[in-house]
Amino acid sequence: MLGRAIYHFSRVESTNKIAFSLAEKGEREGTVILADEQFGGEGRRGRRWFSPLGGLWLSTILRPALPPEHTFIYPLMGAVAVAKAIKRLCSSCVYIHWPNDVMIRERKVGGAMCKIKREKEKVKFIILGVGVNLNIESFPPPLKELSTSLLLESHRPTYPFYFLDLFLNELRDLYSLSQVNQSLLMDKVQDFFPFVGKLVRVISSGEERKVWVKGIDYQGRLMVESENGIQQVITPAESVPITCL
Ligand code: BTN
Repeated sequence: MLGRAIYHFSRVESTNKIAFSLAEKGEREGTVILADEQFGGEGRRGRRWFSPLGGLWLSTILRPALPPEHTFIYPLMGAVAVAKAIKRLCSSCVYIHWPNDVMIRERKVGGAMCKIKREKEKVKFIILGVGVNLNIESFPPPLKELSTSLLLESHRPTYPFYFLDLFLNELRDLYSLSQVNQSLLMDKVQDFFPFVGKLVRVISSGEERKVWVKGIDYQGRLMVESENGIQQVITPAESVPITCL
């Protein structure tokens, strides 16, 4: 059902906003809102998302029959679907930088985020917003040093609807898995997460520390162990940048 209905706009403020209001009015699960350009694209933690012509900017409505704490993994699931689609397209060395950045050569090529609407203790709907820099030729500062696109990496343009198809196929598989076998889904996430077993630098609660990465749990939290053996979890909300040592 993912992508059974697709609303395609040329220029909107944010596909997330349109998807949210459609979902509030009862739009079915799987509907995709797609835009060629956004003038108020939303990123995580209230950041702006650079969304000119040349990217894939979309939001989809999910209505999983799962308790809220089992859906915190969904932004990562979106990022993994992007990474798998990129891998199919150009077999680039693509990986996930926790919590949800899709990276090539230490630069961000895409990202995913979720907005959850709860009713009592249940999930009413989730808006999964995904952005992929497909055919973007250049980025303004400060993104210039931090971002990349498939065009810059592969020197070939990508047809957006072809990429959309690849992405939705991957997302369909991962989303189905999320409803029946969360630990298998976690395995798929870890396939794209190269930090397990590595010593990294994290900034958590404003403090910089060195920790060993143990993995990501089903709530999307980073499981780490300090150099003196203390186990800890860091939530995506703390959003600590991690750097390999
Ligand atoms: C991140 O901060 O890494 C997540 C970025 C998600 C951006 C996408 S673009 C399509 C959708 N609509 C928005 O306004 N944001 C998301």
